[in-house]
Amino acid sequence: MREKDSMAKDAGDPMILEAERKICEHPIHPLLAGRRSIRALASTSVEPETLASLMEAARWAPSCMNEQPWSFIVATKENKCDFDRLLGCLVEFNVEWAQHAPVLLLSVAKLTFESTGELNRHAFHDVGQAIANLTFQATVSGLVVHQMAGFDVEKARREFSIPPDYEPIAAAAIGYPGNSAELPEKLRKKDESPRKRKPLTNFVFESGWGHSADWTRSL
Ligand SMILES: Cc1cc2nc3c(=O)[nH]c(=O)nc-3n(C[C@H](O)[C@H](O)[C@H](O)COP(=O)(O)O)c2cc1C
Repeated sequence: MREKDSMAKDAGDPMILEAERKICEHPIHPLLAGRRSIRALASTSVEPETLASLMEAARWAPSCMNEQPWSFIVATKENKCDFDRLLGCLVEFNVEWAQHAPVLLLSVAKLTFESTGELNRHAFHDVGQAIANLTFQATVSGLVVHQMAGFDVEKARREFSIPPDYEPIAAAAIGYPGNSAELPEKLRKKDESPRKRKPLTNFVFESGWGHSADWTRSL
């Protein structure tokens, strides 16, 4: 079976995927097409073994010199004190919806190579790859990972005693999808609006900067 056909066959939840497929210029795996950063998260807790699998997925991300510069501070609702400390680092807009998530996470990058102490220019990139792995694994388990830049970096550094050559990168709320009808109106609209992306021709170049290739054009 051709890959394109098998993707269509494995389409998973048609409610999500029909909409997403319409906006995809080229076929991609349903787990990527169907993923989205919704804000309506159920309060249902995430099983420890599922959470561990998410971290394991992050662990196997590629990284420059296999430095694995990522760390994650994870706070579950079961540990209310830690959860509230991490929640308290988020900006108000994010607290409004992320407070209902069962899990919060903060990704942290080690900025220097362990062997030489020199600056690791790819540390942010590699933490991003680890989070991408984690997000994909979460999607497999039916979970949502909603990343957040909206947090107080210095507060997080103080609150969790993050050393100077480490940098807090992004927070994330993790949980099973909830009921968007329970969100405040403006957030519900965001959750229900279609995902948007620049076309391939805007960012895939060949020969020189700004020259998009014919093969990037929509079918
Ligand atoms: C590093 C990063 C920071 C983000 N910061 C926030 C944030 O502070 N608050 C928020 O509601 N969404 C945030 N988002 C979610 C993005 O808005 C979202 O990924 C984007 O609109 C694309 O939507 P999609 O993930 O559903 O495809 C962030 C995403 C990333 C990757």
